[in-house]
Amino acid sequence: MSIEELSLDTLDGIGPVTKQKLENAGIYTVLDLAIRGPSEIAEAIGVDLKKAIEFNSSARLRLMELGLLEKEFIPASEIYKKRQNIERITTGSKNLDELLDGGIETQAVTEFYGEFGSGKTQLCHTLCVTVQLSRDKGGLEAGAIYIDTENTFRPERVFQIAEARGLEPLKTLDNIIVAKAYNSSHQELIVSEIGSVVDKMPIKLVVVDSAVAHYRAEFLGRGTLAERQQRLNRFMHLLLRTAEARNLAVVVTNQVQAAPDVFFGDPSKPTGGHVVAHTSTYRIYLKKAGKNRIARIIDSPYHPERETVFVLNEKGVDDPEETTSKKR
Ligand SMILES: Nc1ncnc2c1ncn2[C@@H]1O[C@H](COP(=O)(O)OP(=O)(O)OP(=O)(O)O)[C@@H](O)[C@H]1O
Ligand SMILES: [Mg+2]
Repeated sequence: MSIEELSLDTLDGIGPVTKQKLENAGIYTVLDLAIRGPSEIAEAIGVDLKKAIEFNSSARLRLMELGLLEKEFIPASEIYKKRQNIERITTGSKNLDELLDGGIETQAVTEFYGEFGSGKTQLCHTLCVTVQLSRDKGGLEAGAIYIDTENTFRPERVFQIAEARGLEPLKTLDNIIVAKAYNSSHQELIVSEIGSVVDKMPIKLVVVDSAVAHYRAEFLGRGTLAERQQRLNRFMHLLLRTAEARNLAVVVTNQVQAAPDVFFGDPSKPTGGHVVAHTSTYRIYLKKAGKNRIARIIDSPYHPERETVFVLNEKGVDDPEETTSKKR
């Protein structure tokens, strides 16, 4: 899919004037049009509801043609067949892989949330390398897209991890496509363009580090909270649809404040990250524990809530010494 295919004027009945009105209302692509409600569209461009529904429907139809939107009614057998194609990427740690029943899944959005320094970015770097490993080593022999919103992508770190894992570092870097997202709209645009990259090279992993930082910064204050949640929700759904349509693994990160240990119950609620929570297929909470890191799987459709330990070292994400030696 290319961005041209998502251009508003490719739809019947949308001329330059309507296009401009839509853009003024923040609707830039067919994707935006498909996601906005008809009454919102009607209001934005001053047409009646019937016309707005027509625009909305033809936008949805276009997305279905492009494989970005599921058909409304699907036989369960088709879903079953598609799920047979789910593949897994090793995290670099056996412990963490076990927690995830074999690694990060394609056709799903996996969210890692935790406080600063808990290892979210390190894990993202590691996955960009491990996805390239041969299948017998837990990889998928494919590349990665890294959407960097906080300017924390470091090729030098990838170089180090690749070398430590026996891959050719420069080749490994060649297979990682980096996109810096300058604001939330840019971040959405980049995701809508993933298809055009995937068409050109084998990609099995998309990382968004961090998924929420821009939304959090741009939508400060209560008045805009609902809008932020709506935009974030839309972004997450777009990611999930891309993961499903392209059989990709999507990994997003979300920074949260660690709650003091005196509080029982949920150790850490993603501040304003609840929309992310509802859309992520898997949610893993990361916590610092001295030199180690603890990962806990939360809200999974079929994993019970449980936790494990991993470390960060020159290989990126790895198992603690004790467990690796025990397993030998
Ligand atoms: N080469 C390395 N070897 C060992 N540990 C490292 C190395 N590089 C980074 N780390 C560890 O990773 C930590 C940083 O983790 P990371 O950047 O992944 O955190 P984060 O969860 O992304 O935080 P933030 O929310 O601020 O983005 C460092 O504090 C350090 O402990
Ligand atoms: Mg980080």
